[in-house]
Amino acid sequence: MSLKVKNLISIADLSTKEIIMILDLADKMEPIAHSEKPSKLLSGKILSTLFYEPSTRTRLSFESAMARLGGSSITVADVGASSVAKGESLADTIRTVDNYADVIVLRHPQEGAAQWAAEVSRVPIINAGDGAGRHPTQTLLDLSTIRRSQGRLKDLNIAVLGDLRFGRTVHSLSYAITRFTNRLYCIAPPGLELPNEIVMDLREQGKEIIMTRDLKGILPELDVLYVTRIQKERFPTPADYEKVRGVFRVEKSMLQDVKPNLDILHPLPRVDEIAPDVDETPYARYFKQMFHGVLVRMAILSLLLEANVR
Ligand code: NCD
Repeated sequence: MSLKVKNLISIADLSTKEIIMILDLADKMEPIAHSEKPSKLLSGKILSTLFYEPSTRTRLSFESAMARLGGSSITVADVGASSVAKGESLADTIRTVDNYADVIVLRHPQEGAAQWAAEVSRVPIINAGDGAGRHPTQTLLDLSTIRRSQGRLKDLNIAVLGDLRFGRTVHSLSYAITRFTNRLYCIAPPGLELPNEIVMDLREQGKEIIMTRDLKGILPELDVLYVTRIQKERFPTPADYEKVRGVFRVEKSMLQDVKPNLDILHPLPRVDEIAPDVDETPYARYFKQMFHGVLVRMAILSLLLEANVR
């Protein structure tokens, strides 16, 4: 098993068959991720995590995935403590790190950064978020969560809610999930709608993109509600953020007439868009969701490093 591409920059790099292959392989990784079955699959391999923006889950789950498979990680968690603080360019940093590692996981505030890195790197680059651009490994773990919970990816009623403009997770997810479903509900505060370019792309493919603000009205129809944080750090001023903060908030009292198998997902971190009382409902799957990040990242690392997986 292998992937056609050397890097993972965008969901568009993967065929639908490859997406399914990653999800299948991720499922097989579960005993290793639970430390029930030791693995030496990536023994001797080194992963470098290079994060120019904050992260908890993405960085740690990549490092956990690598360790579970017998590999090791080196990290620049705080680029302020690296030569970037001396003015080094991203390209020079990548040309340095590719001497020390077999694969690089990069998170950067600029859209397109992972693609530029891939152009100079000798080793595979995995995009762990490029500004308001893309976040393909998050999407793979979202798909894995949906498939495991709903038993399928096809013919589901899915809504994405929150900051659809700056949220990179929903950009990648919109492209990926509509390979399996024909309709996507989009609920955003004014000014934070899904970028036109994405809406046009999807509509050209014949997908039904429904923009609504009526969360309560559509809730009973949904199989999956994917909630996202307003991306405060991407707003020009704090006042702009305050205008849209808290416009949508999911609360337990709203979940009276929902489908019994509704999945409420969130890439996390959560701020105030899901009330803590939702956590105790059977619909809250965001904590389980992040475990799938380890499985999916184990699968991606194995495939990009061409380990002998079957
Ligand atoms: C997301 C991100 O970094 O885009 N976090 C994550 O990777 N789980 C979502 C966010 O920051 O809102």
